[in-house]
Amino acid sequence: MQQKILILDFGSQTTQLIGRRVRELDTFCEIVPYNKFPENDENIIGVILSGSPYSVYDKEAFKVDLKKITAKHPVLGICYGAQFISYSLGGKVEPAGSREYGRQNLEFIDKQNPLFKDFDDNSQVWMSHGDTITKIPEGFKVIASTQGVENAAFVSEKDKIWGVQFHPEVFHSLQGTLLLKNFVVGICGSRQDWSAASFIETTVNELKAQLNNDKVVLGLSGGVDSSVAAVLLNKAIGKNLTCIFVNNGLLRKNEFQEVLKDYECLGLNVKGVDASEKFYADLKGVEEPEKKRKIIGKDFIDVFNEEAQKIDGVKWLGQGTIYPDRIESLNITGKTIKSHHNVGGLPEKMKLQLCEPLKWLFKDEVRRVGRQLGMPENLIKRHPFPGPGLGVRILGDITPEKVRVLQDADDIFIKGLKNWKCEDGVSLYDKVWQAGVILLPVKSVGVMGDERTYERAVALRAVTSTDAMTADWAHLPYEFLAKVSNDIINNVKGVNRVAYDISSKPPSTIEWE
Ligand code: XMP
Repeated sequence: MQQKILILDFGSQTTQLIGRRVRELDTFCEIVPYNKFPENDENIIGVILSGSPYSVYDKEAFKVDLKKITAKHPVLGICYGAQFISYSLGGKVEPAGSREYGRQNLEFIDKQNPLFKDFDDNSQVWMSHGDTITKIPEGFKVIASTQGVENAAFVSEKDKIWGVQFHPEVFHSLQGTLLLKNFVVGICGSRQDWSAASFIETTVNELKAQLNNDKVVLGLSGGVDSSVAAVLLNKAIGKNLTCIFVNNGLLRKNEFQEVLKDYECLGLNVKGVDASEKFYADLKGVEEPEKKRKIIGKDFIDVFNEEAQKIDGVKWLGQGTIYPDRIESLNITGKTIKSHHNVGGLPEKMKLQLCEPLKWLFKDEVRRVGRQLGMPENLIKRHPFPGPGLGVRILGDITPEKVRVLQDADDIFIKGLKNWKCEDGVSLYDKVWQAGVILLPVKSVGVMGDERTYERAVALRAVTSTDAMTADWAHLPYEFLAKVSNDIINNVKGVNRVAYDISSKPPSTIEWE
């Protein structure tokens, strides 16, 4: 039995973070929208109710039938989750005098409570809420308060229900992970046996059973997700897996050849298809970003489809989709987290079934699995790279000449990041989430030797992030930027100016198009 903690998502921005924390405790967890509680799942050992942008009294507030959940499982409500428990079971929630936000310290009323095992006195927690619980339900008792919040944590031991007004999942709750451990391990009884090795063993067995002798085709992108998915599938079904790696002419410098070599070293049955000319021809003269994306997407599907047709009797399409691509995180605007499916539309067109062995993993877990599978670090630590590649980093129309200029500049920047070691020995490349160069559709005047030049400008982009949903510009050292700027201008013919992008996301995005 695969034990699992179920997280009911009421729309908080930190729901995914709760999931990550639980996984860090080597415990499998699943995040489901608040109204999709799986009533007959025998593997659930406990339930966490997330926060929410709503107040329990809002008309649109997300509500569930709590009794159905608490009757079967231990429950921990966090922020709105705690308020909802209180509200549903006869307590009282009211608007706080002022929004309670920031660091506070716990004053324990029952330090012996299993939720607080091994806690330090005055442990710091992080509050962020507009409502406050003014009365807890009958049968519950308060186990901790803070200066500003009387009912900061409460429990009904008989019913195994806990509520905390603060956010244990965030960094500023200094013993937040301990609290989650006390719930997940101490109270719910997790065996903590969810590890990369156990994941690989279970998944390979499942894939063998699911796929039998069927043939699978998988599109490799050079990125970590599709590569790890391919190695897992290869372990399960060997030569029945055919991988296709398409050169769309918009990859990084020498990437097609280098990555293909890596894949062959990994023992993958991989076919490299150089379709650059087709992509360049179809993109000729097209300037509008969305149009470019559509053409690149369609061309990829056509090339992939044509190659896949050559495989006799293929039944499945393997994909490196990961958990954050799929989570339907609720938010007030009703938007879902954006996902980029580079082979969107393919399964229907080819009448293939989908096989997504990484669909339960977060990015850092994919990397752990890759390492456990013995994959080389350069593949595992690779930065994310958009499906349309340099196509969304050449502003305006795309020509082979512009691709060459951008590839050369990008290569200098990326190699520079890899070679620049920080004081702790870690390279700048490993410190940033993603980096690349953007070719701008402007020319600027410069001077080289005695000559006036009139050439292209490029922008460097490097960001820090944990999930690409938000990002900050990386504060790269000036000396490093100075060196990269010099190297680019001196070595890349056609570029005479380098700028550094200092915008964060939001309001900007990581890519320029
Ligand atoms: P933005 O620019 O939206 O990018 O901040 C967020 C992350 O997604 C990547 N990205 C893409 N990936 N197809 C992809 O496979 C795309 O069309 C695409 N657009 C953006 C981007 O590189 C960043 O990691």
